[in-house]
Parts: sequence; structure tokens; C-alpha cells
Amino acid sequence: MNLQVNFCGIDMKNPLTTASGTFNPEAHAAFYDLSVLGAATVKGIADVAWEGNPTPRIAETYGGMLNSVGLQNPGVDAWLEKDLPFLKQYDTRIIVNVAGHTIEEYTAVVEKLQDAPIDLLELNISCPNVSAGGVTFGTDPDMVRKVVSAVKDKARQPLIVKLTPNVTDIVEIARAARDGGADALSLINTLLGMKIDVYRRRPVLARKVGGFSGPAIKPVAVRMVYQVAKAVDLPIIGMGGVMTGEDVAEFIMAGASMVAVGTAALSDPMAPVRILNELKEFMEKTGVKDINEIRGIID
Ligand code: SIN
Repeated sequence: MNLQVNFCGIDMKNPLTTASGTFNPEAHAAFYDLSVLGAATVKGIADVAWEGNPTPRIAETYGGMLNSVGLQNPGVDAWLEKDLPFLKQYDTRIIVNVAGHTIEEYTAVVEKLQDAPIDLLELNISCPNVSAGGVTFGTDPDMVRKVVSAVKDKARQPLIVKLTPNVTDIVEIARAARDGGADALSLINTLLGMKIDVYRRRPVLARKVGGFSGPAIKPVAVRMVYQVAKAVDLPIIGMGGVMTGEDVAEFIMAGASMVAVGTAALSDPMAPVRILNELKEFMEKTGVKDINEIRGIID
């Protein structure tokens, strides 16, 4: 059975990756060999360290969770010095999620990554938890084109653009990313949500609103991957509520080339290993010899 996929000209041993923000290489390596992953997508990295938002910044919901972490990260220099060498011990492709508040901050990160031994960049213009950058870029097609084109100009690795679902027309945003020079797309980031503690009469999250993820959002994510795959000729990493191997097959049938596991790995760090085994079982059971056979088969 073949699980290998080619993504932006790069061979991946399987279509599975992690969703940025939910993957902590050192913590997860204590549970499984990270070499099982087709690619490891790391948390958003900015030009300098970011502290993130005040707590509480995580809340459970039916079928998922809310987060307003705010892209806490050590900054690109510290990441290159400490985190990258750790990840390089493993036989997996490396995708770096790039965060910023301004175009200059995004390009500063990408410039520092130009000679780094990483495989792809993922431009995060979809985080709902920062007051500048993130989703403020990702919801406006003109801004999407502008930031993608500025980053593409500096990028030496293929550029994936991560899209927000918090828009009326995801295809319009996907086209703007393509027009700006994106090599690939990833979708979806979290849906904007809120939870109120009715006994305390106040929002559960300190920042009031946050990003909703988990199995409850999967139908929205599958619909958006399907719409974008039909309209835009770029490879896609699909994500949003992936819990099982069958979910991975669903995203691939909708048109994704790779699929990211996110929230599932927060409650069960072994989730990527289980999901990969389930994907193999699904292929065996349904006679799929090559994972590429089922990509985009839904009309
Ligand atoms: C966060 O750190 O706030 C979540 C990351 C994201 O939504 O891109």
C-alpha cells in the first residue's frame, strides 16, 4: 500500500502532519517517534518572543475547545537555536508556521529562515487571537495578496498560506493567496467562538472570544477544503476536527493532499500514530492501494 504523497515537489512518507499550535515536539516525542509523521508543523514563530494572551485562555466546549493563546512563542532566533536541532533528530519534513503583526514582521521571520534546514513555510494570516496581523490580514483579499506577495519575495522554501474560516467566501481568499504567489494552502484555522460562565456572569476566556476547534468543526472544514480544491489549483493541507483515520480519508476525498491532526493530539498525544494506523486499516478494508487514488474524488 502506498501512503507517500508529493507536496509542492517534496516527497512526504505519508499525508499526515500536525496542526501548528497543537504540536509541542519535545512533549510529543516523549509519547511517540516523531519520524512516523509525514511532516511536523510547528507552532507560529514570530521575529521576537511573544508572551501570548492573559489566562484563562483555554476552555472546553461540546465537541471541541476554545483557545485564545495568542501565538506565544520564543521568537525565531531562539527557535532556530534550541527547537530546530531537537526536531532535526527525526526523519520527518519540517513546516514552520510564521506569525507576525505587520508585513515587516512576517518578512523578518522568513528572511531568518532562508538558510535554515526546514522544508516549507506556512504563513499564518488566520489566527483570531491577536489584535494585529493574523485574521486581520486573512479576511481581506487585498491584504492577503499584499502580505503573501511580500513574504513570497523573501521565501526560499515553498510557501503555504493558512486560511481562516471566518469569512463569507473562502474561495475569494484562496484565490487572493494564489494571486499573491502562494505555493499551497492550508485550511481551516479555528472558528471564532465564545463561552460564558453564567454563574460568574462573565466570559470564560480572559480575552472574551477565541478560536473554536475540535470534531464539531469538521463538517465546516471539509466543506471549505472541497470548495477551495474545486476552485483553486494549489495543493491543500486539510484540517479541522480530525479524530480518526476515516476523517483523514474524508479530507483527502474532498481534495486535500495532506491532513493535519490538531486538537485530537491535545487530549491524546498518541493520536497521530493511532490515526495513521486507522488510515491504513481503512485503505486495506476498502481496497485503496495508493492514497493518491482517492484525492479529490468527490464531484
Ligand atoms: C493561538 O496561538 O492563538 C492559536 C494559533 C492560531 O490560531 O493560529
